[in-house]
Amino acid sequence: MSTPEAAVTAAPSRTAHHRHYLMCRPEYFTVNYSINPWMEPANPTDTAKAVAQWQKLYDLYVELGHDVELIDPLPGYPDMVYTANGGFVIDGRAYVPKFRFVERQGEAPAFADWFRAAGYDTIEPQEVNEGEGDFLLAGDVILAGTGFRSTGDSHREVGEVFGREVVTLNLVDPRFYHLDTAIAVLDPVVPEGEHPTIAYLPGAFDDASREILEERFPDAILVSDEDGAVFGLNSSSDGYNVIISPRAKGFEKQLRDRGYNPITVDLSELLLGGGGIKCCTLELRDAE
Ligand code: ARG
Repeated sequence: MSTPEAAVTAAPSRTAHHRHYLMCRPEYFTVNYSINPWMEPANPTDTAKAVAQWQKLYDLYVELGHDVELIDPLPGYPDMVYTANGGFVIDGRAYVPKFRFVERQGEAPAFADWFRAAGYDTIEPQEVNEGEGDFLLAGDVILAGTGFRSTGDSHREVGEVFGREVVTLNLVDPRFYHLDTAIAVLDPVVPEGEHPTIAYLPGAFDDASREILEERFPDAILVSDEDGAVFGLNSSSDGYNVIISPRAKGFEKQLRDRGYNPITVDLSELLLGGGGIKCCTLELRDAE
């Protein structure tokens, strides 16, 4: 007679990997312009609340054992808290952003200076790109978003800079204007040649891109429109602990079923700027 346990497929066991992040305290956070559908300058924002919510994310990373660097916020750049857009870093090389909208363009030199001072091999871009907002490292390949912010030419450029294959994905829903609002890479470290588990929101992509995702990531977690719409995918993972929005209930369960440990942090105030957990977190992948 078979035991009930034998019939149940156990969730795979997951491993937390030490991460190195760059964050920026939202001391000057407000919404006084609109460059995405979430931003409504007429609605009031509460900077102290933004700072307090952000601090919880920072403290959690530290508690989980990660190293978090800070870049000084610049007055007049309320979006600088979204450090994912501040660059894309692999093997100690930092590819600097070139922001689409003039409102954020002054952030780029500040991030470039920070990378140089911290000893990263710093590469200035020719092409419009918004860093890890649109570039996600998935195993050996770079998943690259376009349609709203980073251009297709930046996909060629990022591939040349890092000597890696780039998979272009077309974003079609203005609410999900950066790739990191539509895909989460759940395994930051995978054995060579293997692909990580990813989660994505199918409706954020055109048909061709969806086909690419289905083919490359047949075991991906498909997130519901409901969870996508509360920025559920804008999450960060160390391979075991996945920091997500408390509103993404279905995604939380999907993660648990796959052996991850979802932890919720509420960044409701920062969502008024169209950003969430991942947007506030830049991965610093140092040279080995
Ligand atoms: N207000 C910012 C912008 O529109 C939000 C950036 C969010 N960042 C991200 N990585 N998705 O540029």
